[in-house]
Amino acid sequence: MNSPTLPSIAQLIRSAQQALESISTSPRLDAELLLAHLLDCDRSYFYAHADDQPEPRLQAHFQQLVSRRSQGVPMAYLLKTREFFGLNFEVSPAVLVPRPETELLVETALEQIPKEQKFQVADLGTGSGAIAFAIASQRPQCEVIATDRSQAALNVAQRNAQRLHINNVAFRCGSWLEPISEQLPLIVSNPPYVAENDERLNSDSLRHEPLMALTPGSDGMAPLCLLFPALLSIYLTKDGLC
Ligand SMILES: C[S@@+](CC[C@H](N)C(=O)[O-])C[C@H]1O[C@@H](n2cnc3c(N)ncnc32)[C@H](O)[C@@H]1O
Repeated sequence: MNSPTLPSIAQLIRSAQQALESISTSPRLDAELLLAHLLDCDRSYFYAHADDQPEPRLQAHFQQLVSRRSQGVPMAYLLKTREFFGLNFEVSPAVLVPRPETELLVETALEQIPKEQKFQVADLGTGSGAIAFAIASQRPQCEVIATDRSQAALNVAQRNAQRLHINNVAFRCGSWLEPISEQLPLIVSNPPYVAENDERLNSDSLRHEPLMALTPGSDGMAPLCLLFPALLSIYLTKDGLC
């Protein structure tokens, strides 16, 4: 017997959709994903159970999530997970939400890494470990060194290694090349590149992500200016060119 005062699933989704219209380009999808997360079901469940009334405690939790989403908190932080390169990563506000376009960097790196031979690669500024684990999972013979200056980010990456059962990644804390003592055939990185005074850092879509993952300071190009000459000098020396 339905309670006359408690909203149904269909009503909950409709009102959440309206609340998210100004913040999200996919308000209905966001509302359905948040409710599916709480009910631990697929979105298809809603079609057969549109009139069900979730219990009040769950409805209150749903309203909280919708309210945080309406303040711009990324879906990935609310759902605590994001898919990247076919792997499900735990994400938290300690790490950047992995972006789909970063998969191109993984694909480019994989072209350079032999399939059956031993190889070493470093991922500098690993965050959630997205790039490192995508490479490690595709090249089990390859040893991947994942670094970050943020210990909080490395903690998330280490939990992801466990949940994804990835054993060929080593973790090191430190700034850019500092934790790398060996000469490596390949280094990949998706460094922060937004200048700290850039207005976009205050936008709804970015302001909930860690500042260290977005900006290196006043000069957005600083990490690249540091990494390019250092790497070039390592490779020219290795090849006896200087
Ligand atoms: C743009 S995020 C990339 C995260 C992840 N690789 C990805 O693509 O989703 C940049 C990462 O660099 C890290 N970082 C920032 N400054 C750093 C530094 N000086 N040395 C090492 N890592 C740094 C941040 O903590 C963050 O995890």
